[in-house]
Formats: sequence, structure tokens, C-alpha cells
Amino acid sequence: MYRMGQEEINAVARVIESGQLFKVNSGTLQESYNFEKELKDKVGVDHTILMTSGHAGLTAALIGMGIGPGDEVIVPAYTYIATAMAVVAAGAVPVIAEIDETLMLDPKDVEKKITKKTKAVIPVHMQGNPCDMDAFVALGKKYGIAVLEDACQAVGGQYKGKYLGTLGDAGAFSFNYFKVISAGEGGALLTNNKSIFEKALIYHDSSAVAYFGNQMEDFSTETFCGHEFRTNEITAAILREQLKKLDGIINDLREKKNMLRDALAPHFKFIPSNDYDGCCATSLTLQFDSAEEAEKIAKNSKACTVPINTGKHVYTAWDCILNKRGAAHPLFNPFNFEANKGYEYDPACCEKSLELLKKAGHISINPDWTKEQIDAIVKRLVDAKNA
Ligand SMILES: Cc1ncc(COP(=O)(O)O)c(C=O)c1O
Repeated sequence: MYRMGQEEINAVARVIESGQLFKVNSGTLQESYNFEKELKDKVGVDHTILMTSGHAGLTAALIGMGIGPGDEVIVPAYTYIATAMAVVAAGAVPVIAEIDETLMLDPKDVEKKITKKTKAVIPVHMQGNPCDMDAFVALGKKYGIAVLEDACQAVGGQYKGKYLGTLGDAGAFSFNYFKVISAGEGGALLTNNKSIFEKALIYHDSSAVAYFGNQMEDFSTETFCGHEFRTNEITAAILREQLKKLDGIINDLREKKNMLRDALAPHFKFIPSNDYDGCCATSLTLQFDSAEEAEKIAKNSKACTVPINTGKHVYTAWDCILNKRGAAHPLFNPFNFEANKGYEYDPACCEKSLELLKKAGHISINPDWTKEQIDAIVKRLVDAKNA
């Protein structure tokens, strides 16, 4: 969350005064529907669904794609655990693939890991950095597998002029506290595919979607039992204000990232990017020659974080996935399903990724930094390097 203030306070007050807090209502505000429409118009897709979280958006997208037991879905070794958990929530098996020097999912390793069971791949735009979407869309076509973009950390970022989350068959955004725009919690699914949209809509609000309003009017999908990931008018009202601020936040992040990069360029190397100008610019990532150098500079500068140390963002810390604890009840655990039986994880499956994550340093960018604050960070980093 970067910028939240009086506009969001007024928006919340507006909803409370209206007394209409439920998504489907007869009031004039229609915050949820307006947010879904404004988001659709902003990023250029046919369908969006506001949900309670990014995890809900990812899971609903997989359900919408028809993915379930017996299917494998390829995820990167470097992503928040929620990406892999969404695959398990859909009843399928997450297969872990290497990242490349950009720290994004490596399309070459994905191609090696495609089997008869592979039904989808999830490129994750970590820290708002675009994945090589041309390669993933091509892989999707070549092997007939779906492409689901995890754009939870990448709201407002672009790849070759198109918004992240809109280039694959579906995409998911997160609006939790740590994201580019936020309502504390929240998420969205984006797709141009009507069939994915229909199933995802039913799945995310299965006890109510057929009951409230005329949401299933032209649907060819019948109702089924899913979950409740429906959100509310307060969340939507906050997000409508946040969406208005998105361009300003991204522009300022990019400006501050470029200032920092220019100042650091004589002293440091940076990771390569699939589209530097399109990235959200929430971070600038240094590339070090060794893990020792990365640890030394992170410790002494307190200005960057080595990604190997970021807990559940690295697959080796996904204990419930690696140990196949996919549910509380053993019979409900997808790893125990007959169709999924036999899949085993090797904790050493993505050693190249671990090496890359040890030799990098993320510097978080703040869109409201002053020139003096940027100079101070540069000094800390350069001093730490020379210490
Ligand atoms: C890459 C990635 N995917 C998925 C998620 C899940 O989002 P949420 O917390 O909104 O469920 C996150 C959240 O941190 C994330 O960073």
C-alpha cells in the first residue's frame, strides 16, 4: 500500500451512509460492479471479478480452466507459496520449475517439465517484473496448455504495452496490504474467456451467484458447489479510489527507480528484465558476483534484501507442498487422490534458482522518496560495498 487518504475515507463513509454493504444491491452506488467495470476498462479485458484475495483469483481461474485431479500445473521456484497452494486448492499438482537470470519463470525449463498431464503454466510477475510472455503464450499454443498469469505483485505493470494479467488465458491480481494498490485484502480475476469467467464466477460465490441479481442470465454453465470469495461494497469503494491513483503511483515508482538505477549504475550490476520500461518498479534488483557479497551488502547497508531469505517466496520453504500436506483431512488431500498418486518432490529440483536468489538484492522503491532519500540509500549501498 503506497497512497491512502481522505479519498478512501470518503468512499468508506459513502458506503456506510448508503446502508448498502452487500455486493448485489438496489442502491445507486454499485461499488463492486463499478470497480469491476473500471478495472476491465483500465486493463482492457472482457471480464473481471473482484474477490477476497489473489489466492481466490488464482484458484477460481484454475477451476474456470477446468483444471483438477490428474492435472499438473507448472509454477516457478520463486513465487509466494499461494501460487502453488492455488493449484492444490483446485485438486491438481504444482510442478516446480526454474527461474532464469531475470528471476522470473524460465520458459526453457518449463518446456522440459511439460508432460502428458500438464494442463497449465503460471508465470508469476514477481516484484512487478514482467515474465517473458511471448514465450509462455507460444508454449501454451504449442502444447495446448492454459497460461494463467499471477500478476498479484504486478498491478499496473505492462509487457510490450499490454497490462500484465491480460496476456494469458486469465490473470489474477492481489490487493492485499503489500500490493501496489490495496484495500487491506482483496483480489481479482481477469479474462477474455467467457467459459473461464462463468465457472470462476460460480466458484467464487457459489452459494449466492444464482440467487442474487441476474448474474447468470446468459450462462451456459450450470451451478456447482464452490466457495465463498465474494467481497463487499466497502472493499470495492476503497479500490475504486485506489484505481484512480494507480497511474500516479506507477509513474512515480518508475521515476524513483530510474533515479536510483542511474545513481547506482557506476557501482553495481542489475538483473536483466523482459521489459524494463513496463515493470511496476516496486523494486530495483542488484546482481552480485557471489552469495557472500550479497549477504555482506544487505547486512551492512540495510537497504536491500537477498531474495533467498524471503521465506515462503522460495520453494524450499514451501513445507506443506514439499511434504504433500494438501488438506487437513487426508481423504481431501489432493496429493492422496488416485489421479495424483505417485508425484514426489525433490527439494533439490531447482538448484539453479537457489543460486540466482542467493546472488541478488531487492531494493524496495517508494514512490514518495525525495532526491535526498535516494542519495542516502545510494551512499549506504556504496559504503557497504566498499567496507
Ligand atoms: C506472487 C503472489 N501470488 C499470490 C499471492 C496471493 O495473494 P493474496 O494474499 O491476496 O491471496 C501473493 C500475495 O502475497 C503473491 O505475492
